[in-house]
Amino acid sequence: MLTAARNEMLTRVGPGTPMGELLRRYWQPIGGASELDADPIKPIRLLGEDLVLYRDRGGRYGLIDRHCPHRRADLSYGWVEETGIRCSYHGWLMDEAGRCLEQPYEDTVSPKPSKAGCEVKAYPVKECAGLLFAYLGPKPAPALPTWEPFTWANGFREIVLADVPCNWFQCQENSCDPVHFEWMHDNWGNRQRGETNAAPKHLKLKFEEFEHGFIYKRVREGQSEDDRYWTVGRVALWPNGFYLGSHFEWRVPVDDENTLNIAWFFMRVPKGREPYVQERVPTWTSPLKDANGRFITSHIINQDIVAWAGQGRVADRSKENLRSSDIGIAMMRNRYFEEIEAMAAGKEPAGVIRSANAAQCIELPNMTREINTEGITLAEFEAHPLLRLRLQRFPFHYGQPPEVRRAFVEAMGIVGP
Ligand code: FES
Ligand SMILES: [Fe+2]
Repeated sequence: MLTAARNEMLTRVGPGTPMGELLRRYWQPIGGASELDADPIKPIRLLGEDLVLYRDRGGRYGLIDRHCPHRRADLSYGWVEETGIRCSYHGWLMDEAGRCLEQPYEDTVSPKPSKAGCEVKAYPVKECAGLLFAYLGPKPAPALPTWEPFTWANGFREIVLADVPCNWFQCQENSCDPVHFEWMHDNWGNRQRGETNAAPKHLKLKFEEFEHGFIYKRVREGQSEDDRYWTVGRVALWPNGFYLGSHFEWRVPVDDENTLNIAWFFMRVPKGREPYVQERVPTWTSPLKDANGRFITSHIINQDIVAWAGQGRVADRSKENLRSSDIGIAMMRNRYFEEIEAMAAGKEPAGVIRSANAAQCIELPNMTREINTEGITLAEFEAHPLLRLRLQRFPFHYGQPPEVRRAFVEAMGIVGP
């Protein structure tokens, strides 16, 4: 249980708030590079700030103030040029550093046109593994971490976005909450299929901290402490990610009451299908509600979203009753409070990487590394209890577009759809 003041500290993300400042110290994934192929301009709200993301014709990414410095028109209705984005109201041109390069009428009539004071805020953007990452914190920016899975070859990757109507922290708490798998995904999934069999119970939990976040470990009925669920475990990635061996999820705050859940998936092609080179990593957005306005509950992350949004726009943590299943949650909360204090005292927050070398290929605990690095045959896929289902349909998010499914079927060398 938390007081209202402590809850606010965990959940407020705007500029100048303690948590907002902490999250701004890390590169945040904000979308897929392929999103900008059809339209190179995307309005985006991040950490309570209204911005416009674009790729100019010279290939440079920009993330700048949504409002033009002239008379504040919406730059997301502008157009991109060889360098920068031009406002459609009076034609001012801005670049990715936030500089105003042109003011067409002034440049025509004034003997000494001045752009002084017309700079707008601008944040750096980098592309990695098909994802776009932005850094909204104080300069210099730290190194962008290249997590090991981003370096894997011969895989089909896809990026899925979901606009979740609640605060980011309740989404992130779910990254350190193993017991919900048994109920929300297994037992509820069984009920939805009309089955009443009970999923294996959790018998034992352990939570640990490491350099890049937290690891949770579990033993369920039918497993032992020799199982990788106990010897390796899974990762709640500091400060707002989740890593499950073949996919990442990040909970990126849009503002205090909305979150962009952005997930990156990797599926290695079966042995014999290599070399497989993916031209472009597709990005798609998962719909969350059905025609009746109820949440879709058929897919794993859609189920998670039911839990997150169900806790309210901002969960009231003064009304909770934490138990031993929530040790990981309490541990996480304490660590955020500690990091907020450390940052206020001038210290570098946990997990920030300054060395480009150290950021090159960061390994994380992974229960299934060999499947992704060495590969398995199609027959082994089909015999695998989980991957078998992954071949049949995309189980994580509802609404995979047919063209993404077709590309996946082709990559894997299976019979579609
Ligand atoms: S408001 Fe953008 S050019 Fe005038
Ligand atoms: Fe879940």
